[in-house]
Amino acid sequence: NAIQFDSFGLRSFIKEHEYEELAPQLKVAQTLLKEKSGAGAAYTDWIDWASNFDGKCLAKIKQLAKKVQQQSRVLVVIGIGGSYLGAKMALDFLKSPWYNDLADDQETKVYFAGNQLSAMALNQLLQVIGDQDFSVNVISKSGQTTEAALAFRFFKDELMKRYGQDGAAKRIIATTDASQGTLRQETKAASYDNLVVPSGIGGRFSVLTAVGLLPLAVAGVAIDELLEGAAQAEKTYQKESFTDNPALQYAASRRILYDKGYTTEILANWEPSLQYFSEWWKQLMGESEGKNRKGIYPSSANYSTDLHSFGQYIQEGRRDLFETVVRVDQIESDLAIPKMVGDGDGLAYLEEKTLEEVNQTAADGVALAHIDGGVPNMAVYVAKQDEKSLGELIYFFEMAVAISGYLFAINPFNQPGVEAYKTAMFALLGKPGYEDETEKYRARLRH
Ligand code: PA5
Repeated sequence: NAIQFDSFGLRSFIKEHEYEELAPQLKVAQTLLKEKSGAGAAYTDWIDWASNFDGKCLAKIKQLAKKVQQQSRVLVVIGIGGSYLGAKMALDFLKSPWYNDLADDQETKVYFAGNQLSAMALNQLLQVIGDQDFSVNVISKSGQTTEAALAFRFFKDELMKRYGQDGAAKRIIATTDASQGTLRQETKAASYDNLVVPSGIGGRFSVLTAVGLLPLAVAGVAIDELLEGAAQAEKTYQKESFTDNPALQYAASRRILYDKGYTTEILANWEPSLQYFSEWWKQLMGESEGKNRKGIYPSSANYSTDLHSFGQYIQEGRRDLFETVVRVDQIESDLAIPKMVGDGDGLAYLEEKTLEEVNQTAADGVALAHIDGGVPNMAVYVAKQDEKSLGELIYFFEMAVAISGYLFAINPFNQPGVEAYKTAMFALLGKPGYEDETEKYRARLRH
């Protein structure tokens, strides 16, 4: 396994018998998932997706990626939520947050759009692209999400201005539902290249489908290995035995902590390239668990940066926090600390160490300080930042949140609450069909 789960930092917070008491409920949750008999079972195809990945689909993703690489210096990936976070986090994790700055003439840069409604952000991205040739991968499972559809309209307009109607259509790849939604209709009418978002996998579980794999393949990620890592992970994290299944241990630990009043989880990292891993994780956990007035609030921290911002709160603030630290065992690019004559900066004692050793030691020290401050601490050690490890890491968290959702007796695979903001926004914008609501919402804004 590429992952080690370490619960050493829970010893003073959870007693062994508490795990034993939760065992029957864990069994039920596992059975519901395995037998596809729990709430939202229609959206559990991610469970054995990687090991059954359709070879034809993989070949098509690679072929389209090659086409993009040949025709464009830039790929604009348009999507929001699960339709972008997976690709973004994997790109940072496997390549670099500086991937676009480091890309050479042979590589295609990957930018993300349509994940907010900011005009400034869109203008700035258009400026960054400048006169570079670009293609678009518009991703939307429902095929009608406003943020993505609106951004697509802007980039389509730009493509048409540059390459004409036919030329524009040849630079668009649509990733959407096989038959439903506005985007599918447009794709058919305009004959865009296209890929399918499987109906049995929800957005936040879709990184290992065409949703995440096409942008990653364009960036040169070994997508077969990513799938291989997840396929191997299926064996480990589907195990029934609690002691042999770290995803169960993690899910159980979170649940026991929640019942003791630790209702906020901080996913912490010690690598800036994992910042978006936390963003992906927050969506996975928050959208899956936050229902029926229940659920652990997902938050994140980037260390050591955030120790100098809200580290004070973590150490001494309200005691409803627990921490899960994702730590990477082998960092590819370490640095020896330069040797200097004398000790003017007071750092001579570090000269025999590397920068990574200092980082790892800081991580150890912070974990101990937080435990002493009353913050339960877990660690997920990842062997290295490669495709196989990431495939396993993705599966580990997906399995854990599915189990956790069933422990909470909610449907972990829907997101009904996301509709509330859309209703208010559509009513205020005057979208046809929302006429009855429009005046009510507008009156509230006028007080
Ligand atoms: O997990 C989910 O299903 C959501 O967060 C979606 O990914 C998000 O709302 C985007 O939806 P769509 O892909 O339909 O545009």
